[in-house]
Amino acid sequence: MRKTVQIAPSILSADFSNLGQAIQHCEQGQAEYIHVDVMDGHFVPNLTIGPPVVKSLRSVTDLFIDVHMMVTNPEDLVEPFAKAGADGITFHIEASTTPMKVIDLIRSTGKQVGLSIKPKTPISTLEPFIGDVDLILVMSVEPGFGGQGYLPGSSERIKAIRQMLVEQCRDESVLIQVDGGVKLDNAREVLDAGADILVAGSAIFGTLDPVQTIKQFKAV
Ligand code: DX5
Ligand code: ZN
Repeated sequence: MRKTVQIAPSILSADFSNLGQAIQHCEQGQAEYIHVDVMDGHFVPNLTIGPPVVKSLRSVTDLFIDVHMMVTNPEDLVEPFAKAGADGITFHIEASTTPMKVIDLIRSTGKQVGLSIKPKTPISTLEPFIGDVDLILVMSVEPGFGGQGYLPGSSERIKAIRQMLVEQCRDESVLIQVDGGVKLDNAREVLDAGADILVAGSAIFGTLDPVQTIKQFKAV
């Protein structure tokens, strides 16, 4: 049975001078998540937004605020984002020597726990933690910027992670989210590879009608 397609528009590609309108577009398009790309200029060569912006977004929407932390020392930002109103907090396995501590810290805030992996990181690094998280965020671009192309080999990585979940009997309880270069013309491939949630930034906010585009994604 086909899974319902869950969409997480990335506001990194939205008009930062009018984020309220971007949120309305997400709601009108019936997206399930708002994907907030947090970059600190260290873990990735870009600097974006922090807890104050999430606090503002929280005040205007009930949509699930999905914070993707592309930061060093992620443990320092868990509480601030939880307090600001994030519903899910995802950090990068490459950003911590003690991922379990960060997982426990996010868990202690009551938020959804996400673990993200960059394209060149072996998926075997996920194995020890896959039983403790709610979501695996598979990067299909090198993190740092929107508007990049979906990297070759990404679908195979998604399949392998899905297989890892099946083997560890976590298949039903852990969501796979895919992020980077997801477009209307590759969305079905990404879903068939095993994704539950599609992150899309430029493919949505780079169009003249983001609401209609989100609806097209949900119908792929
Ligand atoms: C990249 C971010 C992605 C990005 C997606 O580092 O994590 O969420 O904004 O943008 P597109 O969909 O344009 O690749
Ligand atoms: Zn992201």
